[in-house]
Amino acid sequence: MLLFVLLVMMMVSWTEAGYTGGVITHTTKVVQGNIFTSVHRYKFGYSSCGELETWFCSGCTKKIDESSGEWCLREYTEWSGSRIFYNYYHGGWGLTWINNRNGVSSGRIAIFVEERNRSDINRPNSSPQTDILPVVRVPSNCQRNISLLTFDPDGDHVQCRHGSGYYECSTCTPPSVLSLSSSCSLSFSPTSSSDEGSYAVQLVMEDFPRQTINLTHDDGSIVSISTSSSMSIIPVQFLFKVDPAAPSCTAGEYLPRFLPPTPEHGAQFFIDINEMIEINIRAEATQSVITELLFSGPFNMVKNSSGSGNFTLRWTPSVSQHDDKESHPICFAVQATANSSIYQSELRCVIVTVSNTVTSTTVALPLTTTSPPPKTSRLTVLKMKISTTLSLKENKDEIEKAIKDELIRRGLPPDIKVRLLSDGSVQVKETAAP
Ligand SMILES: *[C@@H]1O[C@H](CO)[C@@H](O)[C@H](O)[C@H]1NC(C)=O
Ligand SMILES: *[C@@H]1O[C@H](CO)[C@@H](O)[C@H](O)[C@H]1NC(C)=O
Ligand SMILES: *[C@@H]1O[C@H](CO)[C@@H](O)[C@H](O)[C@H]1NC(C)=O
Ligand SMILES: *[C@@H]1O[C@H](CO)[C@@H](O)[C@H](O)[C@H]1NC(C)=O
Ligand SMILES: *[C@@H]1O[C@H](CO)[C@@H](O)[C@H](O)[C@H]1NC(C)=O
Ligand SMILES: *[C@@H]1O[C@H](CO)[C@@H](O)[C@H](O)[C@H]1NC(C)=O
Repeated sequence: MLLFVLLVMMMVSWTEAGYTGGVITHTTKVVQGNIFTSVHRYKFGYSSCGELETWFCSGCTKKIDESSGEWCLREYTEWSGSRIFYNYYHGGWGLTWINNRNGVSSGRIAIFVEERNRSDINRPNSSPQTDILPVVRVPSNCQRNISLLTFDPDGDHVQCRHGSGYYECSTCTPPSVLSLSSSCSLSFSPTSSSDEGSYAVQLVMEDFPRQTINLTHDDGSIVSISTSSSMSIIPVQFLFKVDPAAPSCTAGEYLPRFLPPTPEHGAQFFIDINEMIEINIRAEATQSVITELLFSGPFNMVKNSSGSGNFTLRWTPSVSQHDDKESHPICFAVQATANSSIYQSELRCVIVTVSNTVTSTTVALPLTTTSPPPKTSRLTVLKMKISTTLSLKENKDEIEKAIKDELIRRGLPPDIKVRLLSDGSVQVKETAAP
């Protein structure tokens, strides 16, 4: 049973102006009885901020980032506290792509949302979490792999394919210069200068259950789906720009190269609501001048540069923005210029998982050992930060078990006893040796 909910988006089309892609994701949050909260995040790229701002609805989108004169990325967030278990398409059309070599003019972007109750997780699905920049660029003579972030909050199997069919694209011609693997890697091989130019990329990412599961609709009907049926289908659209050849393709010369402490692609961070995350990004390029960091992520993430290829992204998730109990994708690249050519680094993406801070304590644990007195008295102070979505009152046993497992991982004997005391401290006892 499908229910089609469509939001039609209209916009003024104009010669050099245009849509440069977008991503829509869906996350199921708290489930209570037969209602639950969920959030849809729409990210849209457009050639300028002003037009994008008035296109969708005046003042309802928030700017994420812009690359001066090239694109502007905005987010529209839609949340609901009273969803029921059903499934539907959500999205729209009326988009006009920016000029491109594969002849895509009219754009469509829609997400298929599966919100029937999953028998394996006892709640509705969440879509894979991914992101992309509105414009990804590479010189025509350089090899480049773009491996999309494929984080799935439910641990499902994630695959990609080119869009096809009514909700996924209008003109569906894939870019001839990119080859896509089902594992969501796009590969570009050096090509001739005649292939230079912009290409519209219209992919979809899907999540598949790892075993046969039942989906229960709000009206009580049940369907069984196998590991070859996807649950959500999310759009991943962007403009791929093949630039004039670079004097060299070695990262660190013209193309900026990431240096530590830049997080690796796919890294996951865990933070609490109201806790700031700071991502330090460092890049170098010996033959070009690094000009900017470009990113996609939460709209209120702030970027700063301290010069010489050093950048920071800072973000503090808040309850008012419904950021909790969600894994947020963040993607970034660094750009440099030389002789008025633009050089973009590889794309990196990370995931920031935000809990709803019931317990967030930095505990100094004096590990006291008790009878029989050990031969050498051992008093260790272990500083351990514990973040959990569990409640201290209701899930004491689970928290104690988690702490115990962690201590064992850190070298304590497996027969220790862990007790969480009412003052928040933790007592650890080694059981008496025979
Ligand atoms: C969802 O399904 C599971 C079993 O498949 C069931 O235990 C749970 O009660 C269901 N939730 C609701 C709100 O119907
Ligand atoms: C890109 O991917 C291809 C095929 O997946 C692989 O053969 C190649 O080594 C990769 N190149 C780089 C630079 O990672
Ligand atoms: C799916 O539901 C059927 C009954 O409708 C039941 O027999 C089967 O065990 C269920 N399977 C799972 C994986 O829950
Ligand atoms: C970040 O940059 C903005 C302007 O570019 C500046 O106002 C702000 O103080 C900076 N913040 C930090 C923490 O450096
Ligand atoms: C950039 O960061 C590196 C290491 O984090 C540091 O050594 C260097 O001084 C920084 N440069 C500037 C201009 O801040
Ligand atoms: C810039 O262009 C000039 C002439 O076209 C060339 O000699 C020079 O090497 C170029 N510089 C860089 C950094 O590419």
